[in-house]
Amino acid sequence: MNEIERRRTFAIISHPDAGKTTLTEKLLLFGGQIQVAGAVKNNKIKKTATSDWMEIEKQRGISVTTSVMEFDYGDYKVNILDTPGHQDFAEDTFRTLTAVDSAIIVVDSAKGVEAQTRKLMTVCRMRKTPVIIFINKMDREGKDPFDLLDELEQELQIKVRPLSWPINQGQRFKGVYNIYEQRLDLFTPDKQKVTEKVEVDIHSDALENHVGDADAEKLRMDLELVDGVYPSFDVNTYLNGEVAPVFFGSALNNFGVKELLDCFVKIAPSPHPIQAEERMVRPEEPKFSGFIFKITANIDPNHRSCIAFCKVCSGKFVRNAPYLHVRQNKTLRFSSPTQFMAQKKSTIDEAWPGDIVGLPDNGIFKIGDTLTEGEMIHFRGLPSFSPEMFKYIENADPMKTKQLNKGIEQLMDEGVAQLFVNQFNGRKIIGTVGQLQFEVIQYRLENEYNAQCRWEPVSLYKACWIESDDEAQLEAFKKRKYQFMAKDREGRDVFLADSNYVLQMAQSDFEHIKFHFTSEF
Ligand code: G4P
Repeated sequence: MNEIERRRTFAIISHPDAGKTTLTEKLLLFGGQIQVAGAVKNNKIKKTATSDWMEIEKQRGISVTTSVMEFDYGDYKVNILDTPGHQDFAEDTFRTLTAVDSAIIVVDSAKGVEAQTRKLMTVCRMRKTPVIIFINKMDREGKDPFDLLDELEQELQIKVRPLSWPINQGQRFKGVYNIYEQRLDLFTPDKQKVTEKVEVDIHSDALENHVGDADAEKLRMDLELVDGVYPSFDVNTYLNGEVAPVFFGSALNNFGVKELLDCFVKIAPSPHPIQAEERMVRPEEPKFSGFIFKITANIDPNHRSCIAFCKVCSGKFVRNAPYLHVRQNKTLRFSSPTQFMAQKKSTIDEAWPGDIVGLPDNGIFKIGDTLTEGEMIHFRGLPSFSPEMFKYIENADPMKTKQLNKGIEQLMDEGVAQLFVNQFNGRKIIGTVGQLQFEVIQYRLENEYNAQCRWEPVSLYKACWIESDDEAQLEAFKKRKYQFMAKDREGRDVFLADSNYVLQMAQSDFEHIKFHFTSEF
C-alpha cells in the first residue's frame, strides 16, 4: 500500500513557450536527477524548425528517453510524464493525460490563457483530472494577478484558489507570500539557487522592513481581498477537479518552484482506481494490470522496434512474468522492461501502480492495449478527436505498395494520425492536428518502411462520427452524402464535411442523426 500511496504521477502541460521545459528541469534539479540547470536542454521540438524534420528527430531523440522522468522526493516517488512541446503533436499530449493522476498547468503571466492551454484543460475536465496552475514569468511585466485569476476561471472553466500571492512583478517583483504555508518567500534572481524564506507575520512591521511600505500595504489589501473573494482551500475540491490551486513564480529564476513541489507532493492524488469496460480496477488489487498509452518509434532507423509505454494500474509488474496481451489473447514475457531517469534508461525488475514501464515493441502493441495476469478486461483510452487537417495519401512507388500499407497501418497503431477511407472512391485520407505530422509520416514511411508516399490536397472542414436510432434516416443521409462518407479504422461511419455551412445544414436537415466530434460516444 505504501508504494502506491507515495506515488505522484503527473504531466506538466502548457501552451508552447510558457515555461514547461524550464519548470520540468527545475523539478529535476530538486529531485537530484540533474546537478545543474540546463542539463535537460530542449526536450521539445522548437517551433522554428517547421520543416527540418531531421532536426526535429534529433530533438525528439532526446525526448524519447526522457519521456518519463522519475525521482524520489522525501517520502514520495514522483513520475513526471513528458509531453511534446509542439502543438502539432497535441494528440500525443491528450493520450499522455490518460496515464496521469494529476496535472500542473503552466501559464505565462503576460500571455494568460492560450489556445493550447484551453484545449488541454478540456481534456482534464473530461477526465476530472485534478490540476494545479503555476503562473510563470513573474519576473516580467505581466497581467494583473486578479485579472489573471478571472481569466483562468472563465477560459478554463474551473474555479481557482490562489495558494501564493505575488508582491509586484517585472523589475519590481519582490517575491510571493506563501498562503499555503503562511510564509514570505523573497525573490533573488538566480537561476540555480533556492530562494530566501522568511517567517513573517504579515500584520507586523516586519513586513515593511522586508518589502517596503507601499508593497506591504498593497500585499495586506490583496490578501484580504483574496480571502474575501475565494473560499478557503479545501483539498477535496482540488482532488475532485472542481478547484485549481494557483501558484505564482518564475521557473527560470527557480522561484516558487520548490513551494509548488512541496505543496504538490502533499496534496496531489496517488494512483486512483481506473475504469475498465468490465469493471473498476483498484490500484491495491494484488494482480497486475496496465495499459499502453503511448508508443514511440526508435530513433535508430536500423531497428524498427519501438517502445510502448505501459501505465501500471494495479498489482505489481514483474520482469519476465507471463502477462496476457488481451487484444491478441497472447501471453508475453518482458525480459528487458525499462524505466527512465532524466537522461538515461535502465532495466527494472518491478514496478508499482502509477509507474510507467517501457516495453520493447516490434509492432505487437496498439495504443489502448491492456495487459493483465489473465483477466479479460479492457481499459478505455481517450477518444480520438476530429482532426483539423486532411490530405489524401497516395503511393509514389508502385513497387512498394505492401510496404506502404504496412507502414500506414503501424503508424496509425502508434497513434501518429488518423486514417479514413472514402467509401466513394476508396482513397485513403490522413487526418492530423498539424502540418508537421504529415512530414513525420512521409519521413518515417521512407526511412523505416522503405515506402514512398505523396500528399494530395483534399478540402475538408471536419470529420464527424455519425450514428442514429433512425435507420431509415441514416441510410438516407449516407445516400445523399455518398461522396463524403468514409470509414475509420474500426469500420465506423464518418461524415467528411467540407465546410462549416454544409455541416450545419446536415445537422438541421437530419435531426435524428447525431454528429460526434470525438470517436467515443
Ligand atoms: P516550453 O517548454 O513551455 O515551450 O517553454 P520553455 O521552458 O522552453 O520556456 C520558453 C522561454 O521562456 C525560454 O526562453 C525560457 O528561458 C523562458 N522562461 C521560462 N521561464 C521563465 C521565467 O520565469 N521568466 C522569464 N523571464 N523567462 C522564462 P527562450 O529564449 O525561448 O529559450 P532559451 O534560449 O532561454 O532556452
